[in-house]
Amino acid sequence: MSAVSLYKQKISSALNCQEDEVFLYWKGRVALYTVLKALGVTKGDEVLLQAFTCVVVPNAIIYTGATPIYVDVKTETFNMGLEGVKTRVSDKTKVVVIQNTFGLSTEVEEIVNYCKTKEIICIEDCTHGFGGMYNEKSNGSIADFSFYSTQWNKPFSTGVGGVLRVNNRDYIESIKQVDKQAVQPSIKETLVLNALITARKYLLNDTTYWVLIKLYRRLTALNLVVGSSSPEEIEAPKLPEGFLKKSSAVQCKTGVKALVKLPEIIELRKRTAKVFDVFLKENNKCFVSSELHKNHSFLIYPILVKDREVFMKRAEDMGLPLGDWFISPIHPVKEHFEMWQLNTDDFPNANYLSKHILNIPLDKSNSEKYLFFLKENKDQLI
Ligand SMILES: Cc1ncc(COP(=O)(O)O)c(C=O)c1O
Repeated sequence: MSAVSLYKQKISSALNCQEDEVFLYWKGRVALYTVLKALGVTKGDEVLLQAFTCVVVPNAIIYTGATPIYVDVKTETFNMGLEGVKTRVSDKTKVVVIQNTFGLSTEVEEIVNYCKTKEIICIEDCTHGFGGMYNEKSNGSIADFSFYSTQWNKPFSTGVGGVLRVNNRDYIESIKQVDKQAVQPSIKETLVLNALITARKYLLNDTTYWVLIKLYRRLTALNLVVGSSSPEEIEAPKLPEGFLKKSSAVQCKTGVKALVKLPEIIELRKRTAKVFDVFLKENNKCFVSSELHKNHSFLIYPILVKDREVFMKRAEDMGLPLGDWFISPIHPVKEHFEMWQLNTDDFPNANYLSKHILNIPLDKSNSEKYLFFLKENKDQLI
């Protein structure tokens, strides 16, 4: 059996769906673009998405010629809610992208049911949430489509990678038509990716973390390695050449191995998240109500801090990596938001969160060190 077929088999059994409902791509953003193309989304159409996302999401929309219409998020959930969606829907709305930020799905059923009444297609952006649950079902099983990312910091990693799941079988044939046009990754791309996956496996540890991460970011900015986002994707929403790309055998083989460990990592994430929940609650700091994540797994744990630079520096000095998703309503863009048709002033919650958010990794065995650090720096927590 080929690496691709085996990986598809494993993915579909993990997601509890049919193998022919799964399509594999070079990155998650390509899966989103594939769906939009298969739906015939084009100039004059509007696609709703939340402000507090990764820039590659509005990019995929703009690549089709459609207009991204942003919806502000709720500060308690980091996701947009049904009420926000209702205020932005128009007769041009063709698609709504529902994000499960940090792995947390909220109001998906409500938004999908509302969209059904308006004949609007829904796509769940589950890039942070493979393997998580929502309302007793696997994340990404409710909307017409969903997509997942298997990039470095995601629930499980294939270096970079994307999975498309088609729930509405009426669209399988049109997805296949677009999928046929996808190119294969080049030999150079797969070799570089393989080298990065190997380097990560053997060289990345707590001691080497900062040096290697800074080196990787530098090489990505210079376009010398396969990065999460190429510099051109962050500079302007212009379709990069060869964007519609399939996944490689390297990714599939890596994915098959990585999936074996996923259930254990999800349990670790759930346990660790509870530790931070309790600490933040006891200290009257912002935390995500456990009601909202009874049976789901955070990918990373969100905290809000007064001064992000100060807090990150203190953590770095203690050798504790923190994530900074999302530093802007369309991470990691910092200027020229108009190119993405976004007026940041219109989205106060997304703006507020992106000024104060930091994320704690949950897949490490040193959560007590993070907890100690939070206790020591309580004055900085919001
Ligand atoms: C919310 C969100 N959507 C989509 C993506 C795109 O995923 P990928 O990097 O696999 O293209 C990301 C990337 O991290 C993301 O954070």
